[in-house]
Amino acid sequence: MALLQIARMGDPVLRMKAQPVDDPTSPDVGSLVASMRETMLAAPGVGLAAPQVHVSWRIVVFQVPPARATDPTAAPGAPDGPVPFTVLVNPEIEPLDMAQADDWEGCLSVPGLTGVVPRFLRIRYRGFDLDGSRIERLAEGFHARVVQHECDHLDGVLYPMRMGDLTTLGFVEETQRALQARASAARAGS
Ligand code: NI
Repeated sequence: MALLQIARMGDPVLRMKAQPVDDPTSPDVGSLVASMRETMLAAPGVGLAAPQVHVSWRIVVFQVPPARATDPTAAPGAPDGPVPFTVLVNPEIEPLDMAQADDWEGCLSVPGLTGVVPRFLRIRYRGFDLDGSRIERLAEGFHARVVQHECDHLDGVLYPMRMGDLTTLGFVEETQRALQARASAARAGS
């Protein structure tokens, strides 16, 4: 296991359509996922796709910590609650309806930047675990957003390519400063 180097926007591997994995139980897949997990946690990030570590295979890993969940107090397994570390091999996503929501996203391959991205609010996703068993879950809110963001990487799509309004793209520090200034101005005006 080792920390892997993360590809940054501009690297052609991030624009490729990744290949399906023949055997999710193969040792190569297992060791790649172990290193992806370490790399994601060290970054730190909540998700990582294999192309981000220069491997063009259809594999993503993610988790939804309670602090990031749309409903931090949701019962285990709730679509919008916390989600433990998850591997998805050959994932597929199906929106449950056309409702979308805007929220801020960042990406380890686009370091330092953030922007507002529309995503489907409610999805069903399917994939395979490392033991070859099927995973099928409903996801909402932040959970659904993370899965859509990570699976986009498997088709060569980075979040700025999904943004509806590029004027929200900015550096994290500057964006946070501006949002805080706006919030305190709103408080002063009330
Ligand atoms: Ni990303």
